Amino acid sequence: MQVYKVGGAVRDRLLGLPVTDIDRVVVGATTEEMLAQGFRPVGADFPVFLHPKTGEEYALARTERKSGRGYGGFTFYASPEVTLEEDLIRRDLTINAMAEDDQQNLTDPYHGQRDLEARILRHVSPAFAEDPLRVLRVARFAARYAGLGFTVAPETLELMRELSESGELQALTAERSWKEISRALLEDQPQVFIEVLRDCGALKVLMPEVDALFGVPQPEAHHPEIDTGLHTLSVLQQAALHKQPLTVRWACLLHDLGKGLTPQEEWPRHIAHEHTGLKLIKAVNERFKAPKDCQELALLVGQYHTHGHRALELKASTLLELLQSFDVYRRPQRFEEFIAACEMDARGRKGLEQRSYPQADYLRGAATAARGVAVQPLLEQGFKGPALGEALKRERLKVLKAYKDAASA
Ligand code: CTP
Repeated sequence: MQVYKVGGAVRDRLLGLPVTDIDRVVVGATTEEMLAQGFRPVGADFPVFLHPKTGEEYALARTERKSGRGYGGFTFYASPEVTLEEDLIRRDLTINAMAEDDQQNLTDPYHGQRDLEARILRHVSPAFAEDPLRVLRVARFAARYAGLGFTVAPETLELMRELSESGELQALTAERSWKEISRALLEDQPQVFIEVLRDCGALKVLMPEVDALFGVPQPEAHHPEIDTGLHTLSVLQQAALHKQPLTVRWACLLHDLGKGLTPQEEWPRHIAHEHTGLKLIKAVNERFKAPKDCQELALLVGQYHTHGHRALELKASTLLELLQSFDVYRRPQRFEEFIAACEMDARGRKGLEQRSYPQADYLRGAATAARGVAVQPLLEQGFKGPALGEALKRERLKVLKAYKDAASA
């Protein structure tokens, strides 16, 4: 039997990038032979094994035929007769369909190296359509390698469009989609992920709420870029430039969804979009079963981002409500992430990327002041239960008033 490195390991080595995990394909072996050598099978009907010592993945060369709709609808055919070329042709992109042996001899029947040099993401064959998740994968690779100058081949974008229109994307599980979405958002240019999905019509299917933002105007005075979709892309780009965590990036993507619901006659104003957007944010959160911290932050940022921008003008009582809503006493980190999302929103506007955002420190200071109110003296005064809560609130309001006065003095 012969063993080859395949996929990302070959691609990234040729690009001069660090290789993290290595996938291998085994040609000319049977399941029984693999088991006899101590390899551990990964799944019951999946011809993939883990190396007994290194734990790395070894897959039997296989061909795949689609037997139905969705991810369950695969039958695998693995046998010692399946050749390397047959295995490679069923893969997603030419740059992912190269193999190399121990001596780094390259097998590249579908011209992956040529496409690497030309910076093109191109599908290998019509077998691309067998897994609709590949629409998201290509968009993710486009986001990851945008900085190197990669773009999606027109014929691949066309195939992605056909897949998006066919209804196949709806069959993807929330878990598989979220894995791609979350990885893509963490890339250096996450906005490219959204752009590519939009270009092939997948955004309309996956997140119609985000797609609807394109073409919706905002007041030029605050938003020189005008278009809400373009603004969203810029906010995401800022979040990546500032190395924000996934929670913040997710919140950035969804913060303005309410603007997609504004009746045209009210454009370019979007009164109460913070509230109208909440049900949309909830729907997107649930559609992809986003992790709880992402869901929570997206909803809070959606509801309160304009409070963040107006922080310095907020009454002490409104400031207190904001801090209470975030439970800054027990969840200080979440409030930091809210501040970060607001700042990215402020900077994700044409020509305003470098602006300062004094609201950030002001909000931090307010949180510190409110957190500084000690419980012990109130307990000693005999407060308990709901009365204790009320007393705490009164004390916090007092310190916030003082904080506000000192800041504006
Ligand atoms: N592959 C595919 N279609 C998929 C998933 C994977 O064709 N839906 C193939 C590709 O050849 C890919 C390889 O399996 O290169 C390994 O997949 P994976 O580990 O998911 O991705 P990598 O290409 O290694 O990329 P990453 O760096 O994102 O892990």
